[in-house]
Amino acid sequence: MKAAGKPWLDSALPTAERVRLLMNEMTTTEKVAQMVQISYSIVSPETADDWARRGAGSFLHVLGDNARRLQLLATQNRLGIPVIFGIDAIHGHAIHNGATVFPTQLALASSWDPSLAEKMGRVTAREVAAEGLHWTFSPVFCLGRDLRWGRVDETFGEDPYLSGRMGAGIIRGYQGDDLTSPESIIACAKHYIAYGESTGGRDSYDAPVSMRSLRSTFLPPFAEAVRAGCLTFMAGYNPVDGVPCSASIKILRTILKEELGFDGFVVTDWSNVGSLHARQKMAGNLEEASRLALEAGNDMIMTTPEFYDATVSLLAGGKVNPALVDEAVTRILSAKFRVGLFDVTAKVKTLSIDADPSARASEAVFNCAAHQEANLGAARKSIVLLKNETVAGIPALPLEPAGKRRKIKTIAVIGPNADSVRAQFGDWTFFTHPTPHLDAVPTFRVTTMVDGIRAEAEKRGIKVVFDKGCDIFDPAVHSIPAASRLASKADIVFVAVGDTLVQTGETHDRANLALSGAQNDLVLSLAKVCAKKGIPLVSILVNGKPLEFTTVAGASDAVLETFNSGTLGGQAAAEIIFGTVNPQGRLPISFPRMTGQLPVYYNQIPGWHEGRYFDCESTPLFAFGEGLSYTSFRYDGVSLSAETARAGDTVMVNVTVTNTGEREGTETVQVYAADRIASVVTPVRELKAFRQATIGAGQTVTVSIPLEVDSLSLVTQDEKRVLESGEFEIQAGHDSRPESLVTRILTVL
Ligand code: BGC
Repeated sequence: MKAAGKPWLDSALPTAERVRLLMNEMTTTEKVAQMVQISYSIVSPETADDWARRGAGSFLHVLGDNARRLQLLATQNRLGIPVIFGIDAIHGHAIHNGATVFPTQLALASSWDPSLAEKMGRVTAREVAAEGLHWTFSPVFCLGRDLRWGRVDETFGEDPYLSGRMGAGIIRGYQGDDLTSPESIIACAKHYIAYGESTGGRDSYDAPVSMRSLRSTFLPPFAEAVRAGCLTFMAGYNPVDGVPCSASIKILRTILKEELGFDGFVVTDWSNVGSLHARQKMAGNLEEASRLALEAGNDMIMTTPEFYDATVSLLAGGKVNPALVDEAVTRILSAKFRVGLFDVTAKVKTLSIDADPSARASEAVFNCAAHQEANLGAARKSIVLLKNETVAGIPALPLEPAGKRRKIKTIAVIGPNADSVRAQFGDWTFFTHPTPHLDAVPTFRVTTMVDGIRAEAEKRGIKVVFDKGCDIFDPAVHSIPAASRLASKADIVFVAVGDTLVQTGETHDRANLALSGAQNDLVLSLAKVCAKKGIPLVSILVNGKPLEFTTVAGASDAVLETFNSGTLGGQAAAEIIFGTVNPQGRLPISFPRMTGQLPVYYNQIPGWHEGRYFDCESTPLFAFGEGLSYTSFRYDGVSLSAETARAGDTVMVNVTVTNTGEREGTETVQVYAADRIASVVTPVRELKAFRQATIGAGQTVTVSIPLEVDSLSLVTQDEKRVLESGEFEIQAGHDSRPESLVTRILTVL
């Protein structure tokens, strides 16, 4: 399309040319305004309108008609540059009432299935785009290694490789094959970088990480994001070894833009620029902070509107190189052109500004049947069976089908998280979805744990009794005696424990990961009843992140980890409990026995001794990669397609696995590597590849997994990534525990 006097609207021109033509027309103030992102949640509507008229590049946290109004104002100004709208659609467009709430990233990572992440990304993109928004601040590539940190639920767990694979999957889903499609939205890789390493798990504190470990451990997932074409990055709040990400030329310009070749734009996190002055005290005033941010390579400035006046004044005074502003605006406008914001074909993206608001696409799309199905599929694959003992000769789970099963007439469901939408949904659903509001959204169907179990039980004529058992916070508030009496009349007892919304998420770090309230006492009391009656006690964990589940795991016959499983989590759990679905989730994160044991991630750099505390075992309660099935798998042999290899080669790791149980199941074959002798101390083992195989009962299959030899590289003392020659242990098996792995030696020449 062409428009008189606006040659950049010619969609036949290459993006770079369109950007150049538009930039030629822009005044300095118009350029600086493009770098400004305003949060609608903290300004008055009048102020927001004013910013739209001045040509602010972006708004965040604005929905529906308000977004529509702002876009209209922006596109009516002199140059008519559309606004780009960002939103925290973190696990689904969950901030919006009635939209699909998916399992959190941590839950989803338990599926070890990047294609599932891609599907979730696609559904989320459709729901976000249907509302005329263009950009989600997701996925999170931070690693969840200090479990005290509140935002572990937002990560894909502790491993860089798994995080990179899952995150790249979501990015593909959000952005699709065609960025200009009305169903595609922009992804944002965040929080760049090492934010999860904040001291003591205290959000936004210094990450005392060296540049060498930054490059070895924290950079690889972000490099995956660049490879997946992620169009934006968000700079973290935290300093890395004393230099805030938003003030680091090395982190933003040298590593991200130059070395990784990232060609999208960098947005700061919330008020990063203001904080350089107000909190981090690296700048004496906002002008100084704005200069630091510009020089470091931030392109869009989230919620420091003072950046605008400060930068205009810096430019007028010749105190900053105008080429820095030009570079940032070029990146922002390129992204806007690349997603089709200026073009008629993507009219929906420019906000359906002339669409009839009464016939909004969003209503037909939000949580529609196809999206519910995708969500249920994700929840099923995200649940991890961690323990399943036999009670009176019969495995605690599943309740059905096939073979000898216990007779069940009554099921007791107990626990503060058995019927808690808040606990089940988790983080980034806080503005929305409190239970009363759900009634206002007719299409919205939510199944809590007790809902799910009841629905399945009713189909079979089984009675379900329920008691909350205890308050999740106050140990004095409980109904343990009544709950125990109820349990004593049942044939099996389920107890749902964990944490709830306010115990997890940003600014909700925890010093103590012990179960709050009287949860442990509740479980112990129920365990006593069950042991006396000879019936199983099954714990259902509903939690944002790993907590101290040592007491619960010890007292229970079976443990089902569901994390924050989203809208249909209760249904997915019930299907696993009754056995219509065979669990296949594997932990993306290790569980500590007690808080003081942290960190317990598997890929640690070894010391001289055994890493054992005097008062705690050295192993985690549950290790990275663990997870059971209703069938069993035997590893019959591991071989490599070559014993020697060179840089650039791919070696096949061939793993023969037999399903030794009575039903079909899906096994995730994991491949780790350990460097035998290296120029720096390397982790005990690191995940390098994995592949899932669905294997029929009694069947034997050989799973061939490509291992890229370059992935065995390390970062040297002078920060260079190199592949050193020598022997590597290639370890394949069920999970990260040494006893689960079979080792073969590969020599790199
Ligand atoms: C968070 C980001 C989020 C942003 C916008 C910040 O506080 O750290 O993850 O995307 O707010 O809501």
